[in-house]
Amino acid sequence: MPQVLIDLRYAMTRLFVVCGFVGLWVAALAAAEGPANPPRSGAEVYRDFCAVCHSGGWQGAPIANEPSEWRERMSAGAEAMLQNVKRGLNAMPPMGTCVDCTDEELRSAIAEMLPPAE
Ligand code: HEC
Repeated sequence: MPQVLIDLRYAMTRLFVVCGFVGLWVAALAAAEGPANPPRSGAEVYRDFCAVCHSGGWQGAPIANEPSEWRERMSAGAEAMLQNVKRGLNAMPPMGTCVDCTDEELRSAIAEMLPPAE
């Protein structure tokens, strides 16, 4: 085989090896970052972040699962309530203190606090 081809083959092999390592490294990084953790359940988020105020009605927080506390608020709709939780509302801090909650997690936490459908 002419020398240039041998050199070329050597160069290509090296290139592939380097690509392989870079690929592995990128894959490892991606794995370390991981897919987002699976969403926490509404019950978990409620227990860990919301119950402290919403189980006893701290500072006028609507008490979880008490129909009379929620009737009026629910009439504004679930999306309006979600926005209020995210922004914070009077004595409620933004995100209801769950600063890394996704919208989905907040929605399920809210659902957990609403009274059972009448
Ligand atoms: C530090 C106390 C506190 C924590 C923690 C808290 N809340 Fe609240 N929340 C309140 C108070 C007080 C209100 C009533 C605000 C008002 O209407 O003046 C409220 C109101 C709400 C409302 C009604 C909003 C509306 O549109 O009327 C929802 C829904 C709600 N909270 C959900 C949550 C969720 C979900 C969490 C947990 C992720 C949470 N809260 C954590 C104090 C808290």
